[in-house]
Amino acid sequence: MKEKIKASALTAEEKLRLICGQDGWHTVDLNGKLPQITVSDGPVGLRTERTGADGKTETIPAVAYPSVQVLANTWNTECAREVGACLADDCIERGVDILLAPGVNVKRHPLNGRNFEYFSEDPVLAGEMAKAYIEGVQGGGVGTCLKHFCCNNLEYDRLHQTSDVDERTLREIYYLPFAIACEAKPVSVMCSYNRVNGTYASEYKKGFDYLRTQCGFDGAIFSDWDAVRDRAAAARAGLDIEMPFNEKNYEKLCADYRAGKLSDEALDACAQRVIDLVFRCKEMGENARVRTTEAERADMARRVAAEGMVLLKNDGTLPLSPAVSVMVGGCYAKPDTPDMLRGGGSSCVQRKDRFDLPARLAELGWDVRYEGAFRYDGVNSVVQNARTALVYAAERDVCIVCVGTGAPFEYEAGDRKTMRLHEVQERAILEIAEQCAHTVVVVFAGAAVDMSAWADRVQAIVYAGFPGAGGDEALADLLTGVINPSGKLSETFPLSLEDVPAANAYRCAGVTRYQEGLDVGYRYFDTYDVPVLFPFGYGLHYASFAYSDLTCRVQEEGVEIGYTVENTSARDGKEISEVYVRECAPLVYRPKKELKAFAKTAVPAGESRRVTHLLALRDFAHWSTSEDDWVVTDGVYEIAVGASSSDILLRAKIAVEGGRLRVLKIG
Ligand code: BGC
Repeated sequence: MKEKIKASALTAEEKLRLICGQDGWHTVDLNGKLPQITVSDGPVGLRTERTGADGKTETIPAVAYPSVQVLANTWNTECAREVGACLADDCIERGVDILLAPGVNVKRHPLNGRNFEYFSEDPVLAGEMAKAYIEGVQGGGVGTCLKHFCCNNLEYDRLHQTSDVDERTLREIYYLPFAIACEAKPVSVMCSYNRVNGTYASEYKKGFDYLRTQCGFDGAIFSDWDAVRDRAAAARAGLDIEMPFNEKNYEKLCADYRAGKLSDEALDACAQRVIDLVFRCKEMGENARVRTTEAERADMARRVAAEGMVLLKNDGTLPLSPAVSVMVGGCYAKPDTPDMLRGGGSSCVQRKDRFDLPARLAELGWDVRYEGAFRYDGVNSVVQNARTALVYAAERDVCIVCVGTGAPFEYEAGDRKTMRLHEVQERAILEIAEQCAHTVVVVFAGAAVDMSAWADRVQAIVYAGFPGAGGDEALADLLTGVINPSGKLSETFPLSLEDVPAANAYRCAGVTRYQEGLDVGYRYFDTYDVPVLFPFGYGLHYASFAYSDLTCRVQEEGVEIGYTVENTSARDGKEISEVYVRECAPLVYRPKKELKAFAKTAVPAGESRRVTHLLALRDFAHWSTSEDDWVVTDGVYEIAVGASSSDILLRAKIAVEGGRLRVLKIG
């Protein structure tokens, strides 16, 4: 390893060069003075490129992991850690020092083109899952880059629009997942493209200072690719590296430096952080060894898909009885392009596996007939062999209709046009359901889907998300009961787009007002009793669970919550339990529910498990704009434990008096 140098040992020219990347994927090495590091995209697999002899660039095939949304639907931090660890191995094999992931932007709007890359509408779930993901990657000896800081919650006009957000909402919703994820000490953060309250995110000093002084972030800040408008202004704000190298920006930076527009102090600070970053990454990587085979990583992807698929509706049609004959319809069951099972843009992984649900069901012993019913021409769904599909549907016991979106609909730099599926797909569902009294719909998508046109006409619905490698096996196992579904929604599925509090987001050119404030996702739907199709935190099993024996014990660090989850069925299962807090008579507005803790617990058939959480005083706080700090108001708080945001099963009341907690009542 090269000897570590100080920024003060470099010339101004060297420092100016150092704070701009070498090219798209490397830092500069200053003619061998520094080690060079390589960065590459995540988050759902490693996207590295190679340029062939013909000068053409192609993406190197890699293990595809399920979309981040599916990972979040597991509510299992261990899954996030293990995916991270597998990705570290992918990176080591390809000589990548920093994985450009994870992204923790809150899902404010269901149409955001990048929702498939993000965790949740809830900042705590997003932050905790991202923290575990970072621990997994960095524990494997590879750096991470937490992105996109911040308030990039729609892709429309992302290079220019400003997210107009009040301070309390920033703190409680949009900063919070970054703050939680920073507990895992990511080596870097990436700014976003948009402006935040008028200031470009690449020049967002207030936010960068927040990360460094209040979140313990001690890494370097990257620009998003081409997000820098004024390199000197960005450096003054504390943005350490511009990516990719941009000659024009670099020359302007040098001229601005000569003109006194960038102080030596600010330049040194950025340069030092870049030096620290490259040495930190090299040190982390020094003893890093690949610990898994590619087959083991693909198996991990399968297990995450199995835990992250969500059973949304079931009248008993699932799991499939061994005796039934099955028709699988809809070309998503056997996609002929990987684009159907992934989102588009920088996270696009060139997957190696081929998804084939009919084949997997046949392997498990089912009598299966397949008919695509419609074809996917890259943009549209086109009817094909619809009559054959109906004939099969009429003669079979159970029909499984596979529908979805894919990269042409969900992608970076643009938003989805609609929350509904393509009309051809909706028709296929309705027509098949008319022929077959046991119709199951499987949805492959990266975000919430409006199912109002058909949800009540079918007997079962599985939300499969965009599964990665082995997703077909995971789905076949879930449909046939080899595994018991255990995923729950990490975002609300509203009845329609108009119900979403940020529905008006596109109305003001250039300025996106976050006028709904704290009322994002279930915080809004639950507070105002707005009905939804499927609530946040919801998902069914083939097993059943009962909750009992809530206890609250005040301790020095907070209040310990305990409760029993009993599996009252004959099947082993895993239950996600959720803990929400509500201030009963608040002095300032507070949503009716705020998620503070969650657990995924394996409970064998007929057995019980005790679940405990520690809620700290901070979990009762709100951001006070007048105090400019987190404040816990004296008063009464309800702790609500449930199986979803709208299925609260246990309650307790806690009093807070002068910063001290007291249990008032249980039940
Ligand atoms: C994306 C980032 C990505 C970068 C490099 C940008 O367009 O917003 O998420 O890491 O490109 O590919």
